[in-house]
Amino acid sequence: MSAFYREKVLSVRHWTDTLFSFRATRDSGFRFQNGQFAMIGLEVEGRPLLRAYSMASANHEEELEFFSIKVADGPLTSKLQKIREGDEILVGRKATGTLITDNLIPGKRLLLLSTGTGLAPFASLIKDPDVYERFETIVLVHGCRQVSELAYGEELVAKLRDDELFGPLLSEKLLYYPTVTREPFRNRGRITDLISSEQLFNDIHQSPLDIETDRIMMCGSPAMLEELKQMFESGGFIEGSGNTPGHFVIEKAFVER
Ligand code: A2P
Repeated sequence: MSAFYREKVLSVRHWTDTLFSFRATRDSGFRFQNGQFAMIGLEVEGRPLLRAYSMASANHEEELEFFSIKVADGPLTSKLQKIREGDEILVGRKATGTLITDNLIPGKRLLLLSTGTGLAPFASLIKDPDVYERFETIVLVHGCRQVSELAYGEELVAKLRDDELFGPLLSEKLLYYPTVTREPFRNRGRITDLISSEQLFNDIHQSPLDIETDRIMMCGSPAMLEELKQMFESGGFIEGSGNTPGHFVIEKAFVER
């Protein structure tokens, strides 16, 4: 048995010069937990060229979705950004990753902190009814340099708000906070600063960070993850893993592509 599935590209959307998303068929044997990633890619000169990608679709969906950056000289994304409907992609059979709710101690408020394509695992998780069962409030923060880079997330949340099943859950529990660092926007600033200054909590009319009730997942720029980890650890928060649930879990957005 091959280590990967061969799937067909169903649609591709280009969001900016540096961001695109695509949907593909999903083998009925491909199982994953929302928030996980798999190795995906292309066959190049007869060899698989694969990188880690979080599933942006939820595990109840029939199709797979991925959200990717485009790197002009990136070994994979220089080619992957050119895929079209009908093309073949490879999807590794084994999904893995730490951004799963079982890795968190039960809590009341879930903070999902992301930059750039680090939004992808949270796109999956906010489509998971179990997340809404486990938490009273879910705060989705997405930080980007430019407003145009928010589009994928904006549309995702808008569509879910209109969804028959998810609409009521979102309006009761999800707070979406997009923020931009390099041009004017209603929310501005780095996630690290927005948390340390408590501006995030003020803006969304929520109580400040509290280790008793807050659980955190983060995915994005390695520098941000490092700073957030230190910030949370200095407040007594403990990192969770597959062996031991904690107050927060981390996944790098995979950048060398
Ligand atoms: P900034 O524009 O101030 O660098 P990138 O495109 O470099 O991955 O960055 C995505 C977003 O993450 C940008 O808004 C960027 O802000 C922000 N960012 C980069 N490094 C950090 C960090 N160490 N802490 C918090 N946010 C960061």
